[in-house]
Amino acid sequence: MTRRELLKAAAFAGASSCLGISAHAATTPTSDLITRAIPSTGERIGVVGLGTNNYSVTAPEELAARKEVLAHMWKLGGTLIDTAPAYGRSEEVIGELLAQLGNRDRYFIATKATAPNDDAAAGRAMIEESFRRLRTDHIELIQVHSLMGLDTLMPILQELKAARRIKYLGATTSSGRQHAAMADALRKYKMDFMQINYSIDDRDAASTLLPLAQERGTAVLVNVPFGGRRGSNVFARVRGQAVPTWASEFATSWAQFFLKYVVSHPAVTCAIPGTTKLAHLEDNQAAARGALPDASMRKRMEAFWDGLS
Ligand SMILES: NC(=O)c1ccc[n+]([C@@H]2O[C@H](COP(=O)([O-])OP(=O)(O)OC[C@H]3O[C@@H](n4cnc5c(N)ncnc54)[C@H](OP(=O)(O)O)[C@@H]3O)[C@@H](O)[C@H]2O)c1
Repeated sequence: MTRRELLKAAAFAGASSCLGISAHAATTPTSDLITRAIPSTGERIGVVGLGTNNYSVTAPEELAARKEVLAHMWKLGGTLIDTAPAYGRSEEVIGELLAQLGNRDRYFIATKATAPNDDAAAGRAMIEESFRRLRTDHIELIQVHSLMGLDTLMPILQELKAARRIKYLGATTSSGRQHAAMADALRKYKMDFMQINYSIDDRDAASTLLPLAQERGTAVLVNVPFGGRRGSNVFARVRGQAVPTWASEFATSWAQFFLKYVVSHPAVTCAIPGTTKLAHLEDNQAAARGALPDASMRKRMEAFWDGLS
């Protein structure tokens, strides 16, 4: 699909959602954007967002590449940008680039906070820095990063939410070792969002966490949908292989195959693949359109993956 066709598709998506056309119905390039409702409010967001743990850059050419991504993402239907104070200059770069582009209001910004040694003052200070670096007076979502300081930060996030400085609160992990702790957190607190690791190569979350999130009415962001920038990247395992023809109805690239596996789980609200390249952004955003694999196709995808050498 060319950029022009994608932009046309984005315009069509806006119009067709007004007409109430099903988000999952069409498979043509002009197919509707697939969106999911955030259970606590009913607000709908596109099922593919953006991870920015590789946005801590200063070189002009690197900033220009990221600016291109942030200039185009909303036009392709993606709105959620995930960042964190722990990602070096990421928040600052996003704040600066969105200010230059004048498109901050097109986006749903999700950042994170920690309270080292359960120090509430340090947690509050970190959050205030996020507002400053992101150059905004409202942040859509703040998440307790890797559950660090959960009990200290939850009352602070609830306070910020009551004051309408943030719209949603939640917590993250990217490690299976923290899944039991995340389940405890979900039961203990009314969280709008949970962010977790889940991919075709790492399906542990499907056994407990994803059903629990549905039961608790918690939206789910999926980090590391490709296995992580530094982790065992899923692309390496299929290098040199074409996407199977039985998957061509819903995926024309491996990125779409992997993302559609993730977002076709009914508990998942939005996957946040990290990218620094416009071509990859376009590929990833195309996974938020067209057909989604059903339950039996998902099983076939899993069997295919498990059968790879
Ligand atoms: N505990 C936590 O809260 C936590 C932990 C880890 C991550 N996260 C969040 O999750 C986000 C995603 O994680 P991640 O970025 O580490 O891993 P990922 O999304 O699984 O993989 C990103 C890698 O895939 C490449 N890629 C992206 N789109 C592609 C495409 N269409 N085709 C081929 N390659 C593609 C990227 O390279 P290019 O840049 O070249 O596109 C990058 O190397 C992070 O950015 C962060 O926001 C949160």
